[in-house]
Amino acid sequence: MKIQPANRRLGILLSGRGSNFEAIADRIVSGTLDAEIGVVISNVESARGLERARVRGLNAVYIPSHNRSREEFDREAIDVLRKHNVSIVVLAGFMRILSSVFLEAFPDGILNIHPALLPSFPGADAQLKALEHGVKFSGCTVHFVNEALDGGPIILQAVVPVADDDTVETLSARILKEEHRIYSEAIELVLSGKCEIHGRRVVISSRGLRG
Ligand code: GAR
Repeated sequence: MKIQPANRRLGILLSGRGSNFEAIADRIVSGTLDAEIGVVISNVESARGLERARVRGLNAVYIPSHNRSREEFDREAIDVLRKHNVSIVVLAGFMRILSSVFLEAFPDGILNIHPALLPSFPGADAQLKALEHGVKFSGCTVHFVNEALDGGPIILQAVVPVADDDTVETLSARILKEEHRIYSEAIELVLSGKCEIHGRRVVISSRGLRG
């Protein structure tokens, strides 16, 4: 199935630092990513990423998630995303699981980045798990979001070596640098209509609708 977003407007969901969001915003400003950020949403009021969105003059919305059901939070987020006419939802360090209500509102329109080479090390603390497992290479993965935790079809991955003296901090920093590169590349692929989902596989066609 070919993925053809209706427009180039992104909705960003984050819970913390927001460095992936800022890398995407920088690419848009520099003209290397042809997209627009419609709104940045956070479930954490003090999230640095939300503050950075305000400083950049973007629409920034806090939606509380504490003591609320998943569906209640998701419905409010969907309303805000629709109000801003967003076609692709970008999870950028968003530390909540989405309900089926959200997945159905944006079918094949939600992307996530994960700091490991999926399907290895899904869930929290991926860099720590990679170190503890003793892998020699790790990396990051951008994938479509479906009902399986970190389990949707993979769009792009990048590999980094793991050094014997790595700590969670040094490995995370090496991976993060690649995250900042491939997330924008994956978004561009999706927006340009070059992605087709064949079962579990994402196939990139050499000719998108824009040539
Ligand atoms: C990133 O490393 C991202 O891959 C990870 O959280 C960090 C957010 O950093 N996401 C997950 O672990 C999701 N399972 P950022 O807020 O600076 O973009």
